[in-house]
Amino acid sequence: MSSATAESILNFSAGPAILPRQVLEQARADILDLDGTGIGIMEHSHRGAAFTKVIDETRDNCRSLGNIPDDFEILFLQGGATSMFALIPMNLMDREQQADYIHTGAWTKKAIEDARIIGNVHLAWDGTTCDFKRLPGNDELNPSDDPRYTYYCSNNTIYGTMWPSPPSSNGRLICDMSSEMFSRPIDWSRHDLVYAGAQKNLGPAGVTLVIIRRELLEQARRDLPAMFRFDLHAEKGSCLNTPPTFGIHVMGLVIKWVMEQGGLDAMQAHNLGKAGLIYEAIDETDFYTGHAEADCRSTMNITFTCPNPELDAAFLSEAVAHGMMSLKGHRSIGGLRASTYNAFPMEGCRRLADLMRTFAADHG
Ligand SMILES: Cc1ncc(COP(=O)(O)O)c(C=O)c1O
Repeated sequence: MSSATAESILNFSAGPAILPRQVLEQARADILDLDGTGIGIMEHSHRGAAFTKVIDETRDNCRSLGNIPDDFEILFLQGGATSMFALIPMNLMDREQQADYIHTGAWTKKAIEDARIIGNVHLAWDGTTCDFKRLPGNDELNPSDDPRYTYYCSNNTIYGTMWPSPPSSNGRLICDMSSEMFSRPIDWSRHDLVYAGAQKNLGPAGVTLVIIRRELLEQARRDLPAMFRFDLHAEKGSCLNTPPTFGIHVMGLVIKWVMEQGGLDAMQAHNLGKAGLIYEAIDETDFYTGHAEADCRSTMNITFTCPNPELDAAFLSEAVAHGMMSLKGHRSIGGLRASTYNAFPMEGCRRLADLMRTFAADHG
């Protein structure tokens, strides 16, 4: 390990996760001097011209990269994805009202728990009975009559399941895209609010990207403390208070990087190719078992096990010896998890697949 360098290490962490090298190098320079101002990004006033340029450009590039229609507002909030578990029901329903939740894993569980504090939750589907190995077809969903909204999580980071397309919904659709934001194009005609904590595909922890239909903003509750009001954050251009300026800047650099890679269609093709290399290595032997069912496999978090926990542990040690870090599965399901977010290189997936083949041949 002593000879490890940032270039030789493969970081399979589920989040905070790998960021593009080019972005980190630019961020390093900008910490000392942003745009020749002689002042670093973290030292500029959030009301000054330099940061105003940063946040405006980040918002504009975000809209252009994501093909986000004009009737959506883009917000940069704080508190991580978890804060949205509370802010969504707080802003969009009251104690007498009900929202539909599609329960597909640990993160929807937390969202459901918070929503139940605010109003009523109707479970439109409950994946606990299948160990969150699969996602429901539209014919399996059981929507309520007039929900305030339907909530789902498009990529279940812990279980490695990803919706191939958004679920049907009875009215407004809200999505937690934290672990796949900008990994593929988004169908805005189907969504009313999409959000993501930054620390997987977008930048450092600390910023939450929230994209919300203006019509929904207009209906959001006003009887909340200022910091919790979506409409006020929108009105103040995400500068209601001091925003996470460094995080927003790095998110802007990541967004530019994704644009340079060819945008979301190119990103999706690349991600499918990368994940495909690892799924191939899982499928070609009986040694590995994938957690997610084939029709809802994630391109971002690939979950699998060896024949027993001792072999999982041996695989992890072997991986570390080859410079492959953070492949341990989440403590709730064990096994192994390879997170292959946008910035993760194709070559890294190839190296993991090669190691999986050698390990299976040696221990099978
Ligand atoms: C899908 C999903 N939602 C929400 C969260 C919680 O994010 P945060 O730690 O930013 O609150 C995570 C974290 O891993 C996640 O993967």
